[in-house]
Amino acid sequence: MALKGDSPRTPIQRVDYRPPDWWIDAVELTLALDPAATRVRAVLEVRRNAEAAGSASATGAAPLELHGSGLMTRRVAVDGQERPAGEWTVQGETLRIAGVPDRARVETEVEIAPSANTALEGLYQAGASLLTQCEAEGFRKITWFLDRPDVMATFRVRLEADRARYPVLLSNGNLLEHGELDDGRHYAVWDDPFRKPAYLFALVAGDLGCKEDRFTTASGREVALKFYSERANIDRLDHAIDSLKKAMAWDEQRFGLEYDLDVYHVVATHDFNMGAMENKSLNIFNAKFVLADPETATDADYEAIESVIAHEYFHNWTGNRVTCRDWFQLTLKEGLTVYRDQEFSSDMQSRAVKRIQDVRDLMARQFPEDAGPMAHPVRPERYLEINNFYTATVYEKGAEVVRMYATLLGEDGFRRGMDLYFERHDGQAVTCDDFRRAMADANGVELGQFERWYRQVGTPVLKVETRFDEDRGTFEVDLEQSLPLHDDNQGLGPLHLPVELGLLSRDGQALSVPLADAPASTSHRVELRERRTCLRFEKLDARPVLSMLRGFTAPVRLVDDPSDDDLGCLLAFDTDPVARWLAGRRLSTRILHAAVDNNGELPNVRALGAAWQHMLDHADDDPALCAALLELPSEVDIARDRSPVDVDAIHRAREALRHNLSERMAGRLDGILQKGLPSGPWRFVAEDVARRSLFHAVLRLRVAHADPSAVARALRLFGRADNMTDRFGALTAMVLAGRSAAGPMLEQFERRYADNPLVMDKWFTVQALVPDRGTVDRVRELMKHPAFSLRNPNKTRALIGAFGMHNPVAFHRSDGAGHALVGEVVRELDRINPQVAARLATVFNRWSDHDGRRAASMKAQLEAIRDQKGLSPDVEEIVTAALRHDGQS
Ligand code: TRP
Ligand code: ZN
Repeated sequence: MALKGDSPRTPIQRVDYRPPDWWIDAVELTLALDPAATRVRAVLEVRRNAEAAGSASATGAAPLELHGSGLMTRRVAVDGQERPAGEWTVQGETLRIAGVPDRARVETEVEIAPSANTALEGLYQAGASLLTQCEAEGFRKITWFLDRPDVMATFRVRLEADRARYPVLLSNGNLLEHGELDDGRHYAVWDDPFRKPAYLFALVAGDLGCKEDRFTTASGREVALKFYSERANIDRLDHAIDSLKKAMAWDEQRFGLEYDLDVYHVVATHDFNMGAMENKSLNIFNAKFVLADPETATDADYEAIESVIAHEYFHNWTGNRVTCRDWFQLTLKEGLTVYRDQEFSSDMQSRAVKRIQDVRDLMARQFPEDAGPMAHPVRPERYLEINNFYTATVYEKGAEVVRMYATLLGEDGFRRGMDLYFERHDGQAVTCDDFRRAMADANGVELGQFERWYRQVGTPVLKVETRFDEDRGTFEVDLEQSLPLHDDNQGLGPLHLPVELGLLSRDGQALSVPLADAPASTSHRVELRERRTCLRFEKLDARPVLSMLRGFTAPVRLVDDPSDDDLGCLLAFDTDPVARWLAGRRLSTRILHAAVDNNGELPNVRALGAAWQHMLDHADDDPALCAALLELPSEVDIARDRSPVDVDAIHRAREALRHNLSERMAGRLDGILQKGLPSGPWRFVAEDVARRSLFHAVLRLRVAHADPSAVARALRLFGRADNMTDRFGALTAMVLAGRSAAGPMLEQFERRYADNPLVMDKWFTVQALVPDRGTVDRVRELMKHPAFSLRNPNKTRALIGAFGMHNPVAFHRSDGAGHALVGEVVRELDRINPQVAARLATVFNRWSDHDGRRAASMKAQLEAIRDQKGLSPDVEEIVTAALRHDGQS
C-alpha cells in the first residue's frame, strides 16, 4: 500500500501513454513459499525497445526501471554478474539498474511476507492456503517487473513449499515436473507457453480437495477441468463444473472460440476482493461464485455462478489472448466479456428476464455513478488508483456499448467483426480503437462517430416529443439527444445510437406500420446520428401508443411524458418485455414520487392496478417475466431522481403502494401462493426457477402486510423446505416485514448454518436490510459475532455494504448514527484493505443531495476519512472527489 505523500498526487492520463523502454520476453520465477517470509527469485530476459522514445536520447540509453512495492531486495545480478548495491537504486516503487546491455538476463531476489498482506493483492494468505491476485498492479508486490499490460512474457514458475501444509502447488500453464526436496519440502515447475502480461500470473499453494472432469473441444483437444476447494466443500463443485462445460461449448458455437491448453484450473477461496479472476488456466474465484448445493445456495446463487464461471472462461480470448495495451482500455476486455456472459446467460436461462435484470442493474448501479463525483467515460481519461475504475461504467455500460455494435451490425456482422479482431490481434495488447476498427472493417462500414461513446461522460438524454394530427392521420416522433454538462463532453457532437420502437393501439394491439422507406412492421430500428431526428408515421386512424427504446438498445435516459394510460397499456401489452418493464418502472416511479410529494398519500393508481391485474391473470404464460414486472423500484431507485432525498417519506410511499396493490390484488396473489411451488425435489431448471421467483415475489408482498395465511405459509415453508431458495425466501419475507416470529427463525437459521460462511453472509445481509432505525445498533452487535470479520471482504460487504447501500432508512437515520458506523468502518478498513474500503466509501457520494442535517453528517464522515493519517490512494481518490462534488454537475 502506497502511503499518502505530502504533495497532492497527480493523476495518470490516457493521452500520456508511451510504449515501454524495455520489453521482457521471458520470466523464470522461483518462489520458496512460506507465510512469514517467501523468497522470490526472478530471472527476466529483457530487451531494449528500439522504438521507445527513451532509447534514442542524447544522454545515452534509458536505464532499466522496474516496478516493485513493499519488496525487501536481497540481490541484483545482470547476465550472471552480481551487481553491488551501489549499481542499483530503489526509489519509491522503482528499481533503477544502470548499464544494462540491450539484451540481458536480469536477476533479482526479494523477500515478501504473505501472512502480513491483508490487502489481498499480490501474494497473500487465505485460510491455510497461499495465493495471488495480480490484476491490476499486484504483480509488483511479488517481484520487480515491468508491471504494465503491454509487456507480455512467457512464464516458467518453480514453486517450493512444505509438502504437508501445501500438497497442492499450482501456477499457469502446463506442469513440467514435480518432486521431493529436503526437510519435508517439495516442488513443482509450471510453464505457460502463451505470452501474457504479469496481471494474469497466478499461483496457489494449499491443502485443497479437487474434483476433476473433462471437456473435448470441437477440434478434438482433451481438456482436464480441475476444480479446487477446501476438502469439506468438494461436493459443492458440480454446478460450477457443469457451468464451465456449457460455457466452453457455447463459445465454440457462437464465436468459434476454443480453449487452448490441456488443463483448466478453478480454485475457490473465501478471501477475495472481487468476484473472480481470469488468470491464464488458473482462475481464482471468490467461493461465493463456485460453491453450491441445493441446501446452501439459492437459485440466484446458481445463476450467478453460471455467469461468473462463463465470464472468466470467456476472458481466455477476450482479455488473455488479446489483452489491453494500458489500463485505460480496461473496457476492451471487461465490457466485451460482460456482453459475452450476458449473451451466454440469455441462452441458458430466459433472454427476456436476463435483459430486464441487466437493464435494471445498469440503472441501479451505473446511472448513479454517471451522475456522481466519480463519473467517467467507459474508457477513462485519468486516474489516481486504477483499482477504483473496476466500475459499473467500465463493465456494464461498456457491455452496452459492445451490445450497440451487435445491434447496429446484426449478429452475423458482429461475428465478422470478432473474427477479424482475433485474426488481427491474437497475441497482442491493443486498444478500444483497434476493436472498433475491426468491427468497421469487417463490415465495410464507417464507425468514426461511434468513437464518441468511448469519450462521453454521464448518461446521454434522449428527449421524445410526439404529435398526432387527427385530420391527416399522422403521428410524428421528435427525438433530440444531448449529453450532460461536463468538461469532457465539450464539443463532442451527437452520438451514433440505435433505437428500436413501435406503435400500439390504445387497447394494446401491435400496429404494423411503415416508417420512411421501411415496409410495414410492428417494430422499427432506426440509427440516430444527428442531434435531432423526426420520425413520421402515416395513415393512422387514432392516436397510437409509442413504445420507445425496445430492448433498451442504447444506454440513455428517456425524457418524455407519456400518460398513465399509455404506460399501463405498454406494461400490460407491449410485444417487447424490456419495454414493458421500462413502462412499469416509469409508471410506478411516477406514482411514488407523487406520493412522496404528498405526505405519503397515494395518487390514483388505477392504470397501474389495471396492468397488474392483466399481468397476474396471465402469470402462467411466463412466471419469471411476471415476477420481474411485479418488482417495484427500490427505495434507492426512487431516491435517485430526488434532491433533497426524503428517506422516510420514500419508505412510507413505497410501503403504501405495496400495501395498496397487495390488498387490491389479494385474490389473484393468493391464487399464486395456493398454486404453490414446483412439486418434487428442488431442481435448477428454468421452469422451476421461474415458478419459485414468482411465488417468492408474491410471498414477500403478502407477508409484508400481515396476511395471516401468508405468514403461516412462510413459517411452514421455512421449516420444511428442501432447498435454500425457499428457506431463505421465507426467512427474508418474515425478517424484512418485522414479523414477531422472525427472531426465532433467525436463531434457528444461525444454528443450522453456523459453520457455512457463505450462508452466514446471507444471514448477516438480511438483518442489515431491516428498514428500521434500530438496525444501526443491530449491525454494531453483529460486527462482534464470531462469524464476522472486517478482514474478510465477503463479510464486510454482506453486513456493512448491504447496510450502507441498500438500507436508506437505517443508514440515513437522522441522528447520523448510521453514517458514523460506516465512516468508522471505512477508516478502520482502510488500514486493512484499501480496495474494499474505497468501494464502501462510495456510500457517501450523494451527501449533498440530502437535507441539511444529513448532508452535514455525511460530509463530516467524508472529512474524517480524508483526514485520517496514512490514508490509501484508493480511498483518498473516492472521498476527495465526493467532497469536491456538490451534486450540481
Ligand atoms: N478481471 C476480473 C474480472 O472481471 C476482475 C478482478 C478480480 C479484479 N479481482 C480483482 C480487479 C482485483 C481488480 C482487483 O473478471
Ligand atoms: Zn472480467
